[in-house]
Amino acid sequence: MSLSLSLTIQTPDDWHLHLRDGAMLKAVLPETTRHFTRAIIMPNLVPPVVTAADATAYRDRILAALPEGADFTPLMTLYLTEDTDPKDVAAAHASGLVHAVKLYPAGATTNSALGVADFTKVRGVLETMAEIGLPLCVHGEVTDPAIDIFDREAVFIDRVLDPIRRTTPGLRVVMEHITTKDGVEYVRANDADLAATITTHHLIINRNHLLVGGIKPHYYCLPIAKREQHRLALRAAATSGDARFFLGTDSAPHVDALKEHACGCAGCFTATNTMSCLAEVFEQENALEALEKFTSRNGPGFYGLPVNQTTLTLTKSTPVDYPSKIACTDGPVTVFDPGFPLHWHVTT
Ligand code: NCD
Ligand code: ZN
Repeated sequence: MSLSLSLTIQTPDDWHLHLRDGAMLKAVLPETTRHFTRAIIMPNLVPPVVTAADATAYRDRILAALPEGADFTPLMTLYLTEDTDPKDVAAAHASGLVHAVKLYPAGATTNSALGVADFTKVRGVLETMAEIGLPLCVHGEVTDPAIDIFDREAVFIDRVLDPIRRTTPGLRVVMEHITTKDGVEYVRANDADLAATITTHHLIINRNHLLVGGIKPHYYCLPIAKREQHRLALRAAATSGDARFFLGTDSAPHVDALKEHACGCAGCFTATNTMSCLAEVFEQENALEALEKFTSRNGPGFYGLPVNQTTLTLTKSTPVDYPSKIACTDGPVTVFDPGFPLHWHVTT
């Protein structure tokens, strides 16, 4: 007799995903479409996806790269610049093309140079977004060189996010990839117009995993992993069932040559094994019953979309044999290593 545990949930979505373009898009897209039906697609290409026309063209490239028979809808976003035209944003939303606008503080992360430096210049766009109910996805880190990298999220909340929310009542905001207790508490203390995504890797690694016993470039991402107390706060939030917290993997592929480098790129590539990692994490927290809310229900709730009608089954057995790297013609991409065996197989 074999004892197997299985869990069936509505098919998940990924509310923060980097698919890139060209050869990398082709290489990584199947890793997401295997388990996810929809994803919020990050616009930080080079050059970025700024206008509705850019988003249409990028969506078409994603659709053209889909594996045969895949059931997957890319939910497009626009990259906010100081020159973004509120009318273009409103039209892109009205047509159903665009589901969020992404705010990168200029210089905060990969390909964010054209992001926002002077927040007064985007007041008009933010007001339009508040009126039409279009969410703002925020990379919540200050770029002030005087602020320690481990404090940049907490300082952003006080200096930037809270002022923006006060001056733009009704603006719906997703704090992307929160990494701190401060982020969790700020969401909890506010209303349903504020939500947060949490990545797979920030539920698993703290800054020791990155730095102790030799630097681990594949654990380097932004926002950077913080102290253990923060990881525990993220686990509590993700497993709480609170509708304001949902999965955004921030799966962010870079070829190994650019990760294992003197000035390595930020980003963890988790698309391949995210569902197995999450089932393991939720089981560790005795919260498997909350997994579906985190991966499949809370996100559509916030974005005003229906929950997927299909299901995904995870079955617990011998360790999952996932690839350590994904091949791409640009070079291999290392898959996130959670540091412990994964026992939950996606079986259907
Ligand atoms: C992302 C990337 O590589 O595009 N990197 C990361 O470390 N998360 C950008 C981002 O989301 O900050
Ligand atoms: Zn990201």
